[in-house]
Parts: sequence; structure tokens; C-alpha cells
Amino acid sequence: MSFSFFKSRPIIPDLSFIGVDMHNHLLPGIDDGLQTPEQTVAFVKELQAMGYKKLICTPHVLGGIHDNTPETINAALDIARKALAEAEVPVTLQAAAEYMMDDELEKKINANEKLLTIGDNYLLVEMSYVAAPFNLTEILFQLQMQGYKLILAHPERYNFYHQDFNQLESFRDRGILFQMNIISLTGYYGKEVKRTCEKLIAKNMVEFLGTDMHHQNHLNALKSFASTKDFYKLKDLPLKNLSLL
Ligand SMILES: [Fe+2]
Repeated sequence: MSFSFFKSRPIIPDLSFIGVDMHNHLLPGIDDGLQTPEQTVAFVKELQAMGYKKLICTPHVLGGIHDNTPETINAALDIARKALAEAEVPVTLQAAAEYMMDDELEKKINANEKLLTIGDNYLLVEMSYVAAPFNLTEILFQLQMQGYKLILAHPERYNFYHQDFNQLESFRDRGILFQMNIISLTGYYGKEVKRTCEKLIAKNMVEFLGTDMHHQNHLNALKSFASTKDFYKLKDLPLKNLSLL
């Protein structure tokens, strides 16, 4: 006799309401994410099985550490696509980037260099977890003047805003969209990050959900969170992920 009657039925992860992942480090060997095409194939298979239809890879562009360019990113995209084709994994894989708002980005802005965008001219930007750049307002303004629609990556992860939620609200007044990391809500990055997520969600301040997938621990955390009822509360958010299909 089995006691399964007393257990709640397991939830099979279904991320199809997100459908498009627009923040991840699945491209092999060009940042601190996945390192080999074999890993890319394995992770893509898992994400597809969870309901993703399209994956937009966003390798770091971070001066002095991950000096990626459209050339290095497109070369890694080619390698990944070839490996996926050989493994007969029918997925739409694209690439853009996650730009650190640093001196190197300022140089690119000043040189009017074309940046890699997501969908209809969305630009994914992040900043250091330690401190915002001193000229943050100016960088954001210049990017907007160049026509980019800005998405701030994981607003919940910037420690200096945890006690200063007004600052996050002021980004909204400037038309900046927010991308939350799904696993931030599990406490993976700490209690304060989780608490900030809950606030953002309560105020409907999340347009994009991202995996920000770098490695196996992220995948495990995502899978186990998507096996709980709590995860599906995210369906109530005004998400724009599917508009990128
Ligand atoms: Fe990222």
C-alpha cells in the first residue's frame, strides 16, 4: 500500500507563460556562464522541456573582465547553433548582451557604437552590486537619447537600493523597464533580495522575467521553484516576455 494519497501532487514545471528567456549566459566560453557547446545543448534541452520557446542569450560586456564585442558574441552564437542543430534540438536561439554601465560602455556611447539589442531595440543594462556609477543618470539619459528602450537587469540585486526603494521607483519615472531574476524570489541571492522582489511584484514593477542562467545551481533552483505553487503567482505580472517571440 502506498501513502501517495496523502502527498500533494507534484507540479511539473511549466514556464510557457514566460516563453522567452531574455537574460541568460548560455553561450559557451565567453563569460562566467556555460563553458562548452555540450553544456549549452544540455541546458537548452532542459529549458525547452520546461516550456521556453525562445532563448535570447545575453553574455556580459564588462570592461577588463569580459570584453565581449558583437564579433565574439556572434561567433559563440554560431558555435551554439551548430551544436544544437547536430543534437537536433529545434529551438530559436538568439544573442544580445548584458551591458555593464562602466567606462567602456560610456566610450561606446560616445563613439555612437551600435549596441546589441533584444527584440524591438531593448537594451539590457546592469551595474555593480557595490555602488551605482556616479554618473548613472547621465548614462541612462544618453542611451535613451540614442533611442534604446532600457531594461534594468535584476533591480532586486543592487544592495544599495535595498533600504532605498524610492530610487528604484525613480527609474520607473524615467521609463526604464525592470527584469527580475526568477530565482531571486526563492531567497537564492539572500533575504533582502527576496524582500525587494516581493515589493516589486506587489507594485507590478516587473515587465520581464529572466533566468540569468550561469550554471547548474541556477538550473536546479529554477526547476525546484517552478515545482511549487508559489511560482505560478508570477503569472499575474504584466509580463512582456512573450512579446519577444
Ligand atoms: Fe546576467
